Amino acid sequence: MRQAQAALDAVIGIAHDTLLVVVGVRVWHGYILQKAERKGEVIFMPHYQQHVFFCTNQKPDGRTCCAAGGGANWCAYAKTRARALDLPAQGVRISGAGCLGRCEEGPNVVIYPQGVWYRCQSEADVELILQQHVIAGETVSQLLLDKA
Ligand code: FES
Repeated sequence: MRQAQAALDAVIGIAHDTLLVVVGVRVWHGYILQKAERKGEVIFMPHYQQHVFFCTNQKPDGRTCCAAGGGANWCAYAKTRARALDLPAQGVRISGAGCLGRCEEGPNVVIYPQGVWYRCQSEADVELILQQHVIAGETVSQLLLDKA
């Protein structure tokens, strides 16, 4: 494992003079990160500008889960809308996810790198998340799971 990590940390590319040197890639929570060094400090750069995860998990025996609240529908709708809005070209990725561990609060959506969690219960909620959070960069306060 250490050898594999060392291989990942090997130099894979050099970006522009010595300002930023990409030294490796890692997978973190299913999220591809580029490890880079700048002036001696190590920074992590997300592969996507924004990665939006919709929980689509289905639990057996009628237990509370995001699928029961339409999670797969909202994910499919988000993918369709993202393509229509040309969001992939802007570094935005929409993905279905397994259980995110907050089943009672769902259907859940989490967006990285911000780490913002939303409850999404309709196509209108998907539109708000895409238009207001992803495109405009503003929090959709009425859908937040973690309210201040
Ligand atoms: S089923 Fe979605 S968070 Fe657990």
